[in-house]
Amino acid sequence: MYSIPDRLETEITRQLNIRYPIVAAPMFLVSSPELLIAIYRAGGIGVIPTLNFRTAEAYRAFLRDFPSDVAFGVNLILHGNPRLEEDLAATVERRVPLVVTSLGDPTEVVSAVHAYGGRVWCDVIGRRHAEKAALAGADALVAVAAGAGGHAGRISPLVLAPWLKRITGLPVLVAGGIATGRGLLAALALGDGAYIGTRFLATRESAAPDAYKRALLEASPEEIEYTEEVTGVAGNFLRRSLERFRAGGARAWKEVWSAGHGVAFIDDLPSAAELMERLLREYVLARAELP
Ligand SMILES: Cc1cc2nc3c(=O)[nH]c(=O)nc-3n(C[C@H](O)[C@H](O)[C@H](O)COP(=O)(O)O)c2cc1C
Repeated sequence: MYSIPDRLETEITRQLNIRYPIVAAPMFLVSSPELLIAIYRAGGIGVIPTLNFRTAEAYRAFLRDFPSDVAFGVNLILHGNPRLEEDLAATVERRVPLVVTSLGDPTEVVSAVHAYGGRVWCDVIGRRHAEKAALAGADALVAVAAGAGGHAGRISPLVLAPWLKRITGLPVLVAGGIATGRGLLAALALGDGAYIGTRFLATRESAAPDAYKRALLEASPEEIEYTEEVTGVAGNFLRRSLERFRAGGARAWKEVWSAGHGVAFIDDLPSAAELMERLLREYVLARAELP
């Protein structure tokens, strides 16, 4: 009865010439080239951290071998990243369509990426970084709200995204807890796109180990703890893996598993294409059911 539209246009889809404002967010040790390809073919875009490749040479090899007809993004950590210069140079050479920066001043990245026509989005959790990113010339902000997987912010997504949009005038992606079509609908009411990590962690194409994926099927949002103790920066982690960490037997990210409040809605491990289709189908239904 309700068919999925061919496209949902926002500022975000126009920037990258994609069909849907759905982004598979960068996840350390989890995002994979297969995930990027599947998301793009389904109409969205995926982002992979450059540090998922163990060396700068391995990152270059990925860029060389990745299909040239698939748009994708890479995530560059700007602060305390000894590979930043090398990885940025390789990114510029390959003209990667989208760069998402985390932590630190994006000015240099913005000018290098704009010089070849690429887009730069900046991860932010508050006003100060958002204003800096806007001054640096960012094309959009990623509002990393409370409840997000990884290094989450502290402010509700209901407030953070529209607030930063109002302050800066930039398009804003909502990050934190989006795992269903209702979440996508909410993201498009609050901002210009959905930036989804945890839900894509539990797909067939994600590179997370099976035990991690199974833990997500069982986890409830009440078992997610927000703590600085793993990396020094506050982030959300599964409590059971934190218990192993506290007992001294687990390494950050590899065995201490990050996930956001969106685990509430994870009951299966679909392919990324199936998940995209589901998100859009649920979105259409949820929209039709609004009062
Ligand atoms: C396991 C995991 C690893 C992550 N690694 C990174 C990373 O390397 N760089 C980054 O910018 N964000 C990272 N994030 C955050 C995501 O890019 C995104 O902001 C977040 O997952 C969105 O919230 P959600 O998980 O509730 O969908 C990570 C998140 C998870 C769950």
